[in-house]
Amino acid sequence: MTFDDLIQEMRHCEKCELCKTRQNVVMGMGVPKAEILFIGEAPGAQEDETGLPFVGRSGKLLDTFLNDIGLSRTKNIYIANIIKCRPPQNRDPLPAEWDACLPYLRTQFKFLRPKIVVCLGRIAAQRIMRPDFSVMKEHGTWTVKNGTYFTATLHPAALLRNPNNTPLALQDFRAIQEKINELCDHTY
Ligand code: URA
Repeated sequence: MTFDDLIQEMRHCEKCELCKTRQNVVMGMGVPKAEILFIGEAPGAQEDETGLPFVGRSGKLLDTFLNDIGLSRTKNIYIANIIKCRPPQNRDPLPAEWDACLPYLRTQFKFLRPKIVVCLGRIAAQRIMRPDFSVMKEHGTWTVKNGTYFTATLHPAALLRNPNNTPLALQDFRAIQEKINELCDHTY
């Protein structure tokens, strides 16, 4: 299977009920050779309309944090969600939906083999890092698994609701920049 095969498979996926209500599958975007993978939860309305991850208000905020440390979805990172199709009214994904969709992220991970994974928000951190991960207590900490460095930061949508926490995220992004300088070959 190639990366393009995977994209085609996701585009036509009917593994769960979300295929009935979606407008577009939000597969992910970025550089196929990216060393850094950002992972969110699930697409919202604007992502569903465009087929692109993090393009709404929270995505714009994410882009400012990324740009602040020399990262960009068009130049040097990849962004994907765990769930590829929008749950209606942005409800929480159902267990069957997580189970159906997570293998796609695993395959994306295998193709990218990123050096650094950044989970955006509690849900992604708990699914990817540890079921009892506390984003408020443990954001910015690092775990290494099979040579990949995992961390989590606050979800940009949570920061829009509570801007007082923005300095915490900025701190995390600075730490991500330091980790990139330590681990990554490319100049960022
Ligand atoms: N929130 C997410 O977790 N992912 C998106 O793509 C948009 C908002």
